[in-house]
Amino acid sequence: MEKQFEYIEKIKEDNLRYAEQNGARRRAFVMTFGCQQNEADSEKIAGMAEAMGYDICEEPSAASLIVVNTCAIREHAEQKALSVIGQYKHLKNKDPELIIAVCGCMVTQEHRVNEIKFSYPYVDFVFGTSSIHRLPELIFEKKRLSKRLYCPEEAEYLVAEGIPMKRKAGARAWVSVMYGCNNFCSYCIVPYVRGRERSRTREAVYAEVKELIEKGYKDITLLGQNVNSYGKDSGYDYDFADLIAYLDTIEGDYMLHFMTSHPKDATKKLVDTMAEGKHIAHHFHLPMQSGSNSVLKEMNRRYTFDAYMEKVDYIREKMPDAVITSDIMVGFPGESEEDFEDTLKALRRARFDMIYSFIYSPRKGTPAAELEEQIPENVKSARFERLLATQNAISLEMNKPLEGKTIRVLCDGRSKNNSSVFSGRTEGNKIVFFDGEDTDTGKFLNVTIERADTFALYGKIVK
Ligand code: SAH
Ligand code: SF4
Ligand code: F3S
Repeated sequence: MEKQFEYIEKIKEDNLRYAEQNGARRRAFVMTFGCQQNEADSEKIAGMAEAMGYDICEEPSAASLIVVNTCAIREHAEQKALSVIGQYKHLKNKDPELIIAVCGCMVTQEHRVNEIKFSYPYVDFVFGTSSIHRLPELIFEKKRLSKRLYCPEEAEYLVAEGIPMKRKAGARAWVSVMYGCNNFCSYCIVPYVRGRERSRTREAVYAEVKELIEKGYKDITLLGQNVNSYGKDSGYDYDFADLIAYLDTIEGDYMLHFMTSHPKDATKKLVDTMAEGKHIAHHFHLPMQSGSNSVLKEMNRRYTFDAYMEKVDYIREKMPDAVITSDIMVGFPGESEEDFEDTLKALRRARFDMIYSFIYSPRKGTPAAELEEQIPENVKSARFERLLATQNAISLEMNKPLEGKTIRVLCDGRSKNNSSVFSGRTEGNKIVFFDGEDTDTGKFLNVTIERADTFALYGKIVK
């Protein structure tokens, strides 16, 4: 990072000179696809851009620097990013000085880097997930050499500390506790584009969380692809449960969330720590993927449905108020009608409050993409619809008992779709709509739920 700060200073000088000459500062626009991990990376990109003297803007047409942070988890995510990059061609035609950069998981794959090289000639440089911190150097070199750059992946994915961050407005913040993934689920691209697991130290995480709480953040989500293996890669003598117990000692009025947990590594100790904690939300996101043991085996998930349910039952035993959510995938290669019905049965048994559901998308370079028995698109979509119908009924049943109850809600401000109502989230991350006041934004409120729907709760603030 020290080297990067030298580049930051040089670019800042240039940007300040530009502002003096033109009476307007240069602006940067960051477009983000994908998961919270990518959102957190984009906060670093925006933070570095700001340190370099750019103002962050919300419109690509106003920008001198555009960074597209891409995702590769499904084909659709990649197509969306490519289409957005395509739309920036005319901006470059209008302003040849405009710098367009593409980063993130999609371009951490060689075939996509080549595609950008050949089919998107107006993209100035590309950098992978291990090179986020090198943005200042890349901008500097791009200006100096005026040729296109392809930043090679670092041989070792490092944990770069001290990158400036520009966080999203609001009372919620993300804190990465580890990067990468070692699990190699057979359908998943993440281990190939995010490298091996690396954990930040307990002290670095503690310092960041403490600072955020002191600044007034009320909800901190700890991020990692599999937070349950925190520390193992680095040989720390503390695990994830120890980490959250340690963070929980920070004084203040706040809530700690975390995601994602791999069921194979979710321990009783973690559940006990949550149950005993003061600030740890009773919310467990525990992706099941499938209810069929043979599919789980082919997915390389390394647990059976029964083993999974044992963990769910233990969570409910220790925290009867826990909200449990999951990820479910349909149409994995070889998934039979019977396998799929096992998943529906599993939903009825597990009774998740909510699920994120996905249609399997073959990813180049993963073992599952090579499997012969790929499921036809029409079968996948039909299963997807049945999955949603089954879960929606359960979600509604899980929400209904909240009617008449008063629960704590963190207010996010006016709703994006209807500015006359306010929205917030419960400890279990359920969305709640209510009549509020602007001064309620960013505060914990007590809300009495008057109506519970499948996807949302509606209520009134208790003053
Ligand atoms: N590390 C997290 C998951 C991150 S990806 C975990 O293991 O729980 C989020 C979700 O995307 C996964 O849980 C999975 O359901 C889905 N997903 C991953 N790869 C996919 C693919 N190739 N096609 C469809 N969905 C996929
Ligand atoms: Fe992908 Fe599995 Fe790692 Fe999650 S645990 S990121 S699904 S390989
Ligand atoms: Fe997508 Fe990369 Fe996240 S592939 S889901 S942005 S880790």
